[in-house]
Amino acid sequence: MSYRNDSDSVELGECTRNPGYKDADGDGPAARDNINARDEYTQIKPYAGMPKEVLVLYSSKARYRVPREILFWLTVCCTLALVAVTIAVIALSPKCLSWWQASPVYQIYPRSFKDSDGDGVGDLKGIREKLDHFEYLNIKSIWISPFYRSPMKDFGYDVEDFRDIDPLFGTMKDFEDLLAAMHSKGLKLIMDFIPNHTSDLHRWFNLSRTRDPHYEDYYVWTDCKPDGPKPNNWVSIFGNSSWTYDEVRGQCYLHQFLKEQPDLNFRNPDVIKEMIDIIHFWLEKGVDGFRMDAVKHMLEAPHMRDEPQVDPNKPPELVTTEWDLHSDYTTSQVGLHDILREFRAQMDIYSQEPGRYRFMVTESYDYEEVYKTMMYYGSRLEKEGDFPFNFYLLDLPHNTSGVWAKHLVHLWMGNMPKGKWPNWVVGNHDRTRISSSAGRLYVRAINMLLLTLPGTATTYYGEEIGMENINVTASQIQDPADPQRSPLQWNADTNAGFNEKTNLTWLPLHPDYETVNVEAQMKDDGSVLAQYRFLNTLRQSELPLNRGWFCYVHADANVFSYIRELDGLKRAFLIVVNFGKESAVTDLSSVRELPDELKVLMSTTIANDGKVFPKSRIQTEVGEGLVIQYSTNTRFNPNHPEECYISEKACYLETIDILYKC
Ligand code: GLC
Ligand code: MG
Repeated sequence: MSYRNDSDSVELGECTRNPGYKDADGDGPAARDNINARDEYTQIKPYAGMPKEVLVLYSSKARYRVPREILFWLTVCCTLALVAVTIAVIALSPKCLSWWQASPVYQIYPRSFKDSDGDGVGDLKGIREKLDHFEYLNIKSIWISPFYRSPMKDFGYDVEDFRDIDPLFGTMKDFEDLLAAMHSKGLKLIMDFIPNHTSDLHRWFNLSRTRDPHYEDYYVWTDCKPDGPKPNNWVSIFGNSSWTYDEVRGQCYLHQFLKEQPDLNFRNPDVIKEMIDIIHFWLEKGVDGFRMDAVKHMLEAPHMRDEPQVDPNKPPELVTTEWDLHSDYTTSQVGLHDILREFRAQMDIYSQEPGRYRFMVTESYDYEEVYKTMMYYGSRLEKEGDFPFNFYLLDLPHNTSGVWAKHLVHLWMGNMPKGKWPNWVVGNHDRTRISSSAGRLYVRAINMLLLTLPGTATTYYGEEIGMENINVTASQIQDPADPQRSPLQWNADTNAGFNEKTNLTWLPLHPDYETVNVEAQMKDDGSVLAQYRFLNTLRQSELPLNRGWFCYVHADANVFSYIRELDGLKRAFLIVVNFGKESAVTDLSSVRELPDELKVLMSTTIANDGKVFPKSRIQTEVGEGLVIQYSTNTRFNPNHPEECYISEKACYLETIDILYKC
């Protein structure tokens, strides 16, 4: 049997006769003998079981070969194109916002959030009961102030055991249940991590003061006499000398906070290792990040020289507060960033899993020297915190005006290293609430500022409903910061719904709870809560607000105004907030990128929703904020680059609805 490549015909042996063949007139094999081989071949139809040689012959025929080759090359081209498009999309796509960028961070002070067991103190189970609150607010990131085992001299910031939960707040099981419940709702849990000091009841301190060889240098000790002069002029953040004589060891130990909070010695590598082990412990449990407490105090200058006085003429015995000294030798010392970057590197090990990025924020604020604060962002080559907390806006109430607001915002925006992510704090457990410092009139405007600036907002519990500080009488006071730590006002029931079991609350409630509470405000579209929720939701759904340009437009004695826009997207936002003491009419007619008529999408004064202003006459009342949405083909940022900031540039392609690097 053979076949010839050079022809379309084939000689067929008996065994290869096509059983499916019928000649045209149907007279079968007898007639077939008269047909020449070529004709016979061309009438053979492919059939199962056809020998390989015949098949190969068929397949080399142009009518089979050409489509096959076309198909082959099409497949190759498509695959290559697909790979190229995938690479291009990956290369051209801007980074997606991570969870800590996409949602505000909500700070829970656990004593005051929700009490589940009726002892008057909030607890972990209580937090679990109230997770719906975050779904309602569209908040995903929750920072919980410390709940470690603690003698509570500094309400949990004095840790006795970093691996245990204080019974007041619950058990380790309660913690694990809370974390699981949060994760199942897509919420992230950020823990407080307190590296600078421990409680004086911590096992390490006991071993250190008794000079156990391994623990001897876990804290900062130096010689001094029981009643003699202090080793130097360093003062505690809480006032007076930061040195206390310890009778057991016969030396002085350093404490930059309470005397019951001895400072750990981070010049001892064993201490660094201990703290890293603790970081691992909680990351293993699945926590999503850490708020690192008081980190700038972690190292002190080993020479222990006196710090320079702010007023050199002040008698040394009157130097008792942190404001009296330049804290040159007790904060932000050389070597500190190496330790924090090591912490970060350890956290990054746990960030590899998709969707499990572990977030780090440092409390490392330096009001006077902003460049020092910015160093906590890390360097180009080495990551540190995702951001250091920005406390400048806490200063807003001291001088409410548009210019002042812009000044504070610009302190951060103008000094932040390029490409970093900003953040804003308007309240925390150490500071007077907005309603009490700035006044109720400005609460909504401040929340609007917080949620429309670029970067991550931090909201202290209760600020979403505009809670006020309480008055704490001398007999009630447990800590100077008590007024801003009163129980969260959930409803108008007994104890504002904070404790539904007994009549105990660890601090008195604010008497306004019957009207200022979550439940009542949920029912009221014009409430502080409803506006918070609206702005937060708007921010998360609008690209210009969550990752677009931020451009200054105007600032005067009353009004601060800025634009949020994204290249390629017609929809943009103008924010106009009156932080002043008078109602205002703002003329933005010189801003030619704005349309002539501006329609209010949302006003903090609900009656002004939907109002249309000519851009030459935008009216605002004291404490009123406006979000104006407009449509434009001309972006503001290309014409005013010095007025505009963006963390990572992205452009929008409206036709196919994608973002790309530009
Ligand atoms: C931080 C905390 C504060 C605490 C201090 C000492 O500043 O915010 O509440 O007292 O550190 O840990
Ligand atoms: Mg309790």
